[in-house]
Amino acid sequence: MRVLGIESSCDETSAAVIDTDGTLLGHVIHSQQEHAAFGGVVPELASRAHMRTALPTIRMALAESECTLHQIDGIAVTAGPGLVGSLLVGISVAKGMALAARKKLVGVHHLEGHIFSTQLENELEPPFLTLLVSGGHSEIIFVKTLGQYEVLGRTRDDAAGEAFDKGAKMLGLLSASQSIHGGRLIAESASGGNPAAIAFPRGLSKEDTLDFSFSGLKTALRNHIGSLSKREKAAILPDIAASFEMAIVDALVAKTVKAMKAREIRTVALAGGVAANATLRRTLSQEVAVRGGSLCCPSPIYCTDNAAMIAAVGRFHLMNGIQSGYDLDADPRMKL
Ligand code: KG4
Ligand code: ZN
Repeated sequence: MRVLGIESSCDETSAAVIDTDGTLLGHVIHSQQEHAAFGGVVPELASRAHMRTALPTIRMALAESECTLHQIDGIAVTAGPGLVGSLLVGISVAKGMALAARKKLVGVHHLEGHIFSTQLENELEPPFLTLLVSGGHSEIIFVKTLGQYEVLGRTRDDAAGEAFDKGAKMLGLLSASQSIHGGRLIAESASGGNPAAIAFPRGLSKEDTLDFSFSGLKTALRNHIGSLSKREKAAILPDIAASFEMAIVDALVAKTVKAMKAREIRTVALAGGVAANATLRRTLSQEVAVRGGSLCCPSPIYCTDNAAMIAAVGRFHLMNGIQSGYDLDADPRMKL
């Protein structure tokens, strides 16, 4: 079951080929640069960019895999959740190729893709917990077995990456950079700063829930910097950034540890763009180890949006006889 995977749910156009035995043969990710001037992803620009890059990206992935479309058994494509216009580009391309070359087609849930990022390098054995943290998601997912998932906690407002991005915007870091990844900019600014300098709130920390909330943190940051002059803000930027970063990391780690206890699970995986955060990786790894567990952090390239994980899910479903019809549609709010 050799599968071509296609991902286009947000601002990455990606294609990958995975072989029958799960070996990744080729993998190409095109990250859109069109959004930098706007400080965030612009849906209309994203779908247009997918239109331009989808076919060249697929061609490159096939060439890297040294195989032709005829040597592919099935095509897996992200069907949701995500930006509807972006999803539709990937789905239309996948359908057209499947129809023309008479290949099996399977629509994949984007979050199941992130869960499968743990299977690309090490084949992590379920049951395990996945802390999925990106610009659009903050979820703790219990993976009973591959294919059976339970969302134990989710954000009630902003996603963790979104909180980083909004914080970076408030601190003026985005306008001074070509990047829209505020989390990376905050992490860089936090270097040398004191993470205990400002007592930012840890949302829902006292409540008996595995959900997250980052809106109070955003307000606290706005209030804190509102009283500072430009010069004062610049002088203590490392402390503000380090304290803000630690507030997000603490909230994520506390709820993940709570979920470990609640489900008596010792294996934890980290996925999504925020998994690139070194403070999160270090803190979570320590807290999981203290409880006799282990943390699986896929390589950064498999944490961010990518088609390798989509191809892996597609291979799994097709091998289990699950496939989609040509009426496959984008579902921007698809449930896991
Ligand atoms: O998974 P991803 O590439 O795209 C989606 O959101 O689907 O994640 C992007 C998010 C952005 O919010 C970005 O600020 C955050 O990941 N991010 C980071 C870091 N690098 C990227 N957050 C914290 N620390 C980082 N080093
Ligand atoms: Zn994602």
